Amino acid sequence: MKTARIGVLTGGGDCAGLNPAIKWIVKTALDGRLEKERGIKYEVLGIRDGWEGLVSPMTESFDRSPNIIPLNEDLVRTWDRFGGTNLGTSRTNPYNPKNDLSKLVIENIERLGLSALIVIGGDDTLGVAGKFAQEGINVVGIPKTVDKDIPETDYTLGFETALDVITEEVDRLRTYAGSHKRIFVVETMGRNAGWLALEGGESAGAFIILIPEVDFSIERVNELVLDGLRAGNRYNIVVISEGAKPIGGAIFTRQKEADAIGHEYLGGIGNYLAQEIEQGTKLGTRSMALGYLQRGGAPCAYDRRMGRYFGIAAVDLVVSEDFGKMVSYTNGNITAVPIKDVMGRSRLVDAETQYDAERYNGRRSILNL
Ligand code: F6P
Repeated sequence: MKTARIGVLTGGGDCAGLNPAIKWIVKTALDGRLEKERGIKYEVLGIRDGWEGLVSPMTESFDRSPNIIPLNEDLVRTWDRFGGTNLGTSRTNPYNPKNDLSKLVIENIERLGLSALIVIGGDDTLGVAGKFAQEGINVVGIPKTVDKDIPETDYTLGFETALDVITEEVDRLRTYAGSHKRIFVVETMGRNAGWLALEGGESAGAFIILIPEVDFSIERVNELVLDGLRAGNRYNIVVISEGAKPIGGAIFTRQKEADAIGHEYLGGIGNYLAQEIEQGTKLGTRSMALGYLQRGGAPCAYDRRMGRYFGIAAVDLVVSEDFGKMVSYTNGNITAVPIKDVMGRSRLVDAETQYDAERYNGRRSILNL
């Protein structure tokens, strides 16, 4: 029987849903019944630490490389229950203009005898995958990121688990805020996309939600907070995205240097806003950035199920040799789109239809009747 070898890697920030996707790639590729139907026996090699695992010089034999783990059904049986990625990840960019290692990656793919590479990543990792696809490598992509900012898909792995974390943590913070009569500002991740703040704030029932897509007026925020007080609220929760900024202000960054891809590390706006609210309203105000908690923990049911569907669909693409595609969830269907259509673009909240810019919150009319 013909044999073929599939490589799989996870790149960029960790999040929930990666391990379920890996598990279902392995189970689908190695499935005995499907093997007979396809007439191909697949092997699956896990590549450690994202693109990092393919930029180190490698021996001809994968079983002697510390960057490669041969995957089998027994090994991955329980992986869907775990957060993060059991393969490890990195933000390594093989196309870094200061140190371009893309040729080495291509050589290593050849040395390992990979006939296909499944790349699970966010916009940066998939952007790299798209460049390798343009160089003739047989690549398939799976979208993941708590930011949910990848275009051409309604879902990215990790998002729903992160929403659960936001909701649970806001519930906990309500205990303090309610007992002590505080305004509590909760900063979420999300980079320049407001999905985590908007949908996390909606799930948690936040009083005010601030997103990067709409610059906010500090005066208006304070007015709303005081309205809340007058309406009898003992405390209020404000959810703000790390990428949100006041009108006329700049985005807050928590570190001078950018990452390997060139992204700045965002953060600090929540703390700033808390000070402004306290000063402007004279109400005791506290803040907290939820940070990496949002990316941690076991995948929720939805991420396990979507990881499963995305993993299976990625193998379907490999089997049908439909390369250069990213698995996508669009209008309720699992489908596939060209990776090149995703590169260099972001999917942001449509403030016109998905946000109430006067109330700084989610919509109060949905059906538009
Ligand atoms: O893209 C996912 C994300 O969690 C962003 O929301 C956040 O700004 C960034 O990654 C943090 O980057 P790092 O994992 O490199 O600290």
